[in-house]
Amino acid sequence: MNKQKNQSGEDTGMNRREFLQASAVGGAALLLPMSLTSQMAEAASPMLTKFTEPLAIPPVVVASAAGVTIEMRQITQTIHSSLPATTVWAYGNSTAGFSTPGPTLLVDLVGDPVADRTTVTWVNNLASDPNATHYLDIDQTVLDHVDGARDNRKAVVHLHGAQGINQHADGDPEQTLLPGQSDTYDYGPQPRAATLWYHDHALGNTRLNVYMGLAGAFVFRDANERNLVATGQLPNPAYDIPLVLQDRRLKKNGQLAYGPYFDDTFFGDVMLVNGKAWPHLDVEPRKYRFRLLNGSNTRNYTVRLGGHDGQPSLMFTQIGSDGGFLARPVPLMEITLTPGERADVVVDFAGKEGMSIDLSNHHMMKDMDDEYPIHDIMRFRVVKPMSAIGDATLPADLATIDHLLSTSTIPPEIPQRYFKLEDEPDPYVGTKWHIAGPTRRDPPGSVHTPTHMVMNDTLEVWNWVNKSDMIHPMHIHLVQFQVLGRWKAAEDSKGNLVPGRSIGIDLNETGWKDTVRVGPLEFVRVVARFKGDPNGPHMPGATTEMMPFHCHVLEHEDHEMMRMFEFRY
Ligand code: C2O
Ligand code: CU
Ligand code: CU
Repeated sequence: MNKQKNQSGEDTGMNRREFLQASAVGGAALLLPMSLTSQMAEAASPMLTKFTEPLAIPPVVVASAAGVTIEMRQITQTIHSSLPATTVWAYGNSTAGFSTPGPTLLVDLVGDPVADRTTVTWVNNLASDPNATHYLDIDQTVLDHVDGARDNRKAVVHLHGAQGINQHADGDPEQTLLPGQSDTYDYGPQPRAATLWYHDHALGNTRLNVYMGLAGAFVFRDANERNLVATGQLPNPAYDIPLVLQDRRLKKNGQLAYGPYFDDTFFGDVMLVNGKAWPHLDVEPRKYRFRLLNGSNTRNYTVRLGGHDGQPSLMFTQIGSDGGFLARPVPLMEITLTPGERADVVVDFAGKEGMSIDLSNHHMMKDMDDEYPIHDIMRFRVVKPMSAIGDATLPADLATIDHLLSTSTIPPEIPQRYFKLEDEPDPYVGTKWHIAGPTRRDPPGSVHTPTHMVMNDTLEVWNWVNKSDMIHPMHIHLVQFQVLGRWKAAEDSKGNLVPGRSIGIDLNETGWKDTVRVGPLEFVRVVARFKGDPNGPHMPGATTEMMPFHCHVLEHEDHEMMRMFEFRY
């Protein structure tokens, strides 16, 4: 059968990662076959001047129980004014327009289980022909091998971080829509204010569909948040801006490039924030709230503000994590975001009139496969006069977070699960990542084999054990969890993987999370209450839901570093 092929169709027998490792061992790029050195050289995007583009702020679309319709369309969008417009896949509607990232969907929760039942009708209008092929090249050599991959424009929308929803509204990865099809999802009453996000989740094609642009912020606000804003304890919504971080590679003509062969990582050399390359934002000397979202395929970011080229360094004050407010504001010099993670932060530009302060990435070179380290992200220029809207004064306390487990020893009645994260050589894709154990397709030919069952309204402890040299951001659908600890992975006398030396969790990991960073050779423990809505809108007669849990490196997710659990009412 076919092995990994390069662009010239030659069989390299390895993927890019092994290739780089092999060439590093060999000591010189001279060892690379000619066709691949030239391919790598060609992959560099056109040179772009940084900080010339004004930041784009996606339009806000109010979502509610009354329902709203969001379509997916292929459009062109200007990434940088020196480039021709780029073909992308956008979300939007005729009122808000179409963009990538898509409009920020905004829900004002009122605390009523009926009034808060947000519904969205998603329409795939990516082509007029349901059989249209994907915009990007898809590696035909692995198409049949990687479950679910198709070279058409199938798409399905997942609301990342939503709690208690059913399998249908979750955007089950196999429940894809072809161009011309649509579906309405009921997101139930979400419990609290949070910066969630929506993105494509089509089985086998997620990395490509998100890369094309299918992602956006989905913000829930509640009475607590409205009160904090109304009393001047959080910035006014006029100063509340999502920043979606994504890296891309561009062809000379400004079009999106994504290697045609199925690799296990993707790193771009052009930094996009809200769909613009290295943009700037002109700000007033006051507090802003930024909702940072790592919407990249593989890239991790450790962001800092200023501190180089004569710029002052500013702190972040983190107020929220993936699933809602932290208990109290946390001042931080830097914040690490792996793919899928969010940080809701406040930045104070007071007293910095006339200065420029760059948001930059300090995670470069920590990712071994990263051929394109990205340092610069975007620039803030403190050049606008203060408006009449008052500045905010942050509160001491933001929200009450009930701890799901207060002891460090797990009571024996609480089910514990262990998931080993590992790769194995694969004849088709070089390296294939998975969560050890049965797969979604066991026995072969079956669909959605759950690998374990979780009963409604139960507390479970899940342990992630990373046996590899890469970070895996592990995400569970249906719930928001709490991180109980992070250790070096060790082995007991029976060979079981157990927590070793404690590394500890970060202060900004003490709130609600739906995605957690599991570093190389780490053991990370989380706890969640798995709770659905038995009165919610199920598939007719259903008493169970199939829910995915997976690595949020989209290349790994598409390798099926994803399993399903069966959730039973
Ligand atoms: Cu953000 Cu299952 O994904
Ligand atoms: Cu999700
Ligand atoms: Cu992974």
